[in-house]
Amino acid sequence: MRRIAIHNLATNMIVARTVYASDGRILLHEGIALNKDYIKRLGDLGIISIYIRDKFVEDDNIKDVVSEKIRVETIQAIRDNFYELEKGRRLNTKRIHTLVNNLIDELLINSNLLVNLADIRSFDDYTFAHSVNVAILSIMTGITMQYNELQLKELGIGALLHDLGKTKIDVNILNKPDDLNKEEFEEIKRHPQYGFDMLRKHDDISLLSAHIAFQHHERWDGHGYPRQLSGEKILEYARIVAVADVYDALLADRPYRPSYSINQASTIVKRMAGTFLDVNCVDAFLSNIAIFPIGSFLELNTGETGVVVDVNKEMPSRPIVKIIYGKDRHPLFKSHEIDLSKLSTITVKKVLTGQEISLLSNEF
Ligand SMILES: [Fe+2]
Repeated sequence: MRRIAIHNLATNMIVARTVYASDGRILLHEGIALNKDYIKRLGDLGIISIYIRDKFVEDDNIKDVVSEKIRVETIQAIRDNFYELEKGRRLNTKRIHTLVNNLIDELLINSNLLVNLADIRSFDDYTFAHSVNVAILSIMTGITMQYNELQLKELGIGALLHDLGKTKIDVNILNKPDDLNKEEFEEIKRHPQYGFDMLRKHDDISLLSAHIAFQHHERWDGHGYPRQLSGEKILEYARIVAVADVYDALLADRPYRPSYSINQASTIVKRMAGTFLDVNCVDAFLSNIAIFPIGSFLELNTGETGVVVDVNKEMPSRPIVKIIYGKDRHPLFKSHEIDLSKLSTITVKKVLTGQEISLLSNEF
């Protein structure tokens, strides 16, 4: 079983896990074969990815840090709240508190797992799916940093609403595919202030959560905005959200560039540690990311190719790989598994793209 983004689905792929709508309705039953109509409908409904059967990864092996149900519900709630705000109404803070509590509960239960967040979003949903991803990634980082429940709540709410101020910005500027002019860029740079002003009007949102929205574009070396705060003058919560925000943005397709792989995004974030981003937050953050998620196809320095069937929490960049193709890319008569955390001389040469995987096996 592999998780596949909607835009990478093809007809005749078999659904490995039942797909639910945000209101709990069943959209597609496990075991059904996809056709063009199903794929289109999934996209129309804002579903970002689904599980598809394959012969390499056992169906029970992929465990998510957050269930699809909670993820979809939270994206829906963020979408609803942003629309309400655009109409000048107030946030439904009660719903937001409940959703963040649910996220924290799931993440605490699954704190032994790594994030297998690959390419799992639809473009239309960018801001909403991004907000939820940033909240999940930030809360996981907070758990690693041994935050207590109150801290996780403050962090989670601020992370989920960090870009709230964007609802005050003209959509023509926000979605502009070309370069922004100076005034437009200045306006975009006001979204932290707008978000802060909106959040502090709500009594049941902590002022610290509001400060996350205010400070998430500040940078460790003082080169951020809006106030050029630096180092520990930036709230630690905001430093965590800054890491999650940068990382998740790199994984998304944007109008001006295609997405980076997890491996590339992790390397970029690591390189920013100590200049743009706080080293401690980056380290805590990366300890939760499966650099090569389950279902990835890897070419190794041995010349062999395999699929990631499990990950090691202690060594997120050294997964367990089932070798299925030999040096000449011929399928092996008998596959075998190797644990990269125990074999330091074997390195990952390349992560195969969707197209290369299709060429390897007509199963996809
Ligand atoms: Fe932002």
